[in-house]
Amino acid sequence: MSSVHLFLGQSITPAAAGGNFRRRKFPFNGRVMACATVDVRPPKLTAAEAVMAAEARVLVGTYARAPVVLVSGKGCKLFDAEGREYLDMTSGIAVNALGHGDPDWVRAVTEQASVLTHVSNVYYTIPQVELAKRLVARSFADRVFFSNSGTEANEAAIKFARKFQRLSNPDGKQPPLEFISFTNSFHGRTMGALALTSKEHYRTPFEPVMPGVTFLEYGNSQAAVELIRSGKIAAVFVEPIQGEGGIYSATREFLQALRSACDDAGSLLVYDEIQCGLGRTGFLWAHEAYGVIPDIMTLAKPLAGGLPIGAVLLTEKVASAMNFGDHGSTFAGGPLICNAAMAVLDKISNPEFLASVTKKGKYFKEILMQKLGGNPHVREVRGMGLIIGVELDVSASALVDACRNAGLLILTAGKGNVVRLVPPLIISEGELDRAAEILLDCLPVLDESNSK
Ligand SMILES: Cc1ncc(COP(=O)(O)O)c(C=O)c1O
Repeated sequence: MSSVHLFLGQSITPAAAGGNFRRRKFPFNGRVMACATVDVRPPKLTAAEAVMAAEARVLVGTYARAPVVLVSGKGCKLFDAEGREYLDMTSGIAVNALGHGDPDWVRAVTEQASVLTHVSNVYYTIPQVELAKRLVARSFADRVFFSNSGTEANEAAIKFARKFQRLSNPDGKQPPLEFISFTNSFHGRTMGALALTSKEHYRTPFEPVMPGVTFLEYGNSQAAVELIRSGKIAAVFVEPIQGEGGIYSATREFLQALRSACDDAGSLLVYDEIQCGLGRTGFLWAHEAYGVIPDIMTLAKPLAGGLPIGAVLLTEKVASAMNFGDHGSTFAGGPLICNAAMAVLDKISNPEFLASVTKKGKYFKEILMQKLGGNPHVREVRGMGLIIGVELDVSASALVDACRNAGLLILTAGKGNVVRLVPPLIISEGELDRAAEILLDCLPVLDESNSK
């Protein structure tokens, strides 16, 4: 029985589902007016309305969700509680790289679940060590630390950088403990990663966050080099391609300038590839497109194909600063997650798979430019592989709604004026055609929404 059927197994009236719908408008407003000639029974909610009403009652209101209750998925398709089909250009925000229900991934999860799901990091497990071996073999890194999410991977990277700098500067003088981050960056929502995240709106309600972070303009090599030369910088955090910030790509010169300045000053270069890494650009790691190697790289989103994972990949030089007990996690690197991640990593790191992402990315960008490029609201189509942004001169929210109603799920980025397209990497050219068609058909809503 699926979860939506379980939900519907109960008799659902608005009152049973919560009654007090705090955050959304529903057809039923929670009050019943008695009248002799009117049927006073509250109208039955649809399955989706019942779920949304209950959500509004029992969950903390941190998500402005689209009014869709998704119940199943296959490949690049998702299905809602009413049986409507959607083409998924979101992949759970760049997570479901193999789409939904990939058979190899399902096998990896179910087989491992039936053998061993979790044990403490007090013990060794084979999938954790195997996954680390494969990540090391396929990257610049010598060692891996596992976490449960992207923000945790960045927290770990912050700690590793601080500890490394303390040990590298034993002479009693203040070690470099500050950080550089960039405009439009997103690194997570816990206090360290949040401190590195540029959007003030995310940070200010929770201040004080970790002190010692300077935000510089993304791409401004000169400003970064000057600050790194000050000798105060433990590490520079940078996304080779910014996702949430609006799909902005670094240049080789920028990353090269950061690398050289860090080398000269003894600072560490940290790439956050949580969104752009693991095949999304058509390269296994986004930084391969630039040929500039970091000291630390953080990963998360797609690594376990939809199960929670984060990873910090680092050089021996940095890893050797860490001792037993310096960091840890109850769940991280559990056998179930790591077995799932191996299925994902093995598939994505196949050169043919990566070549197909490059090919499809080029194709998609071309058809988007052809179909959408002539619209006066479209400023730019940018990105690499299957992380593509369509910048508009207005908010994209009306377009997101119209596309959803037409069966296409898309995301926004930047200041809400960038359409973010991060489909499963297994998507077909036919599905990309269809996505571009729906986008084209829906573009006129931008005129309507802006003439109101
Ligand atoms: C580049 C980048 N870093 C870090 C994070 C935070 O990851 P998580 O949401 O798994 O904590 C995200 C999430 O969107 C991200 O895109």
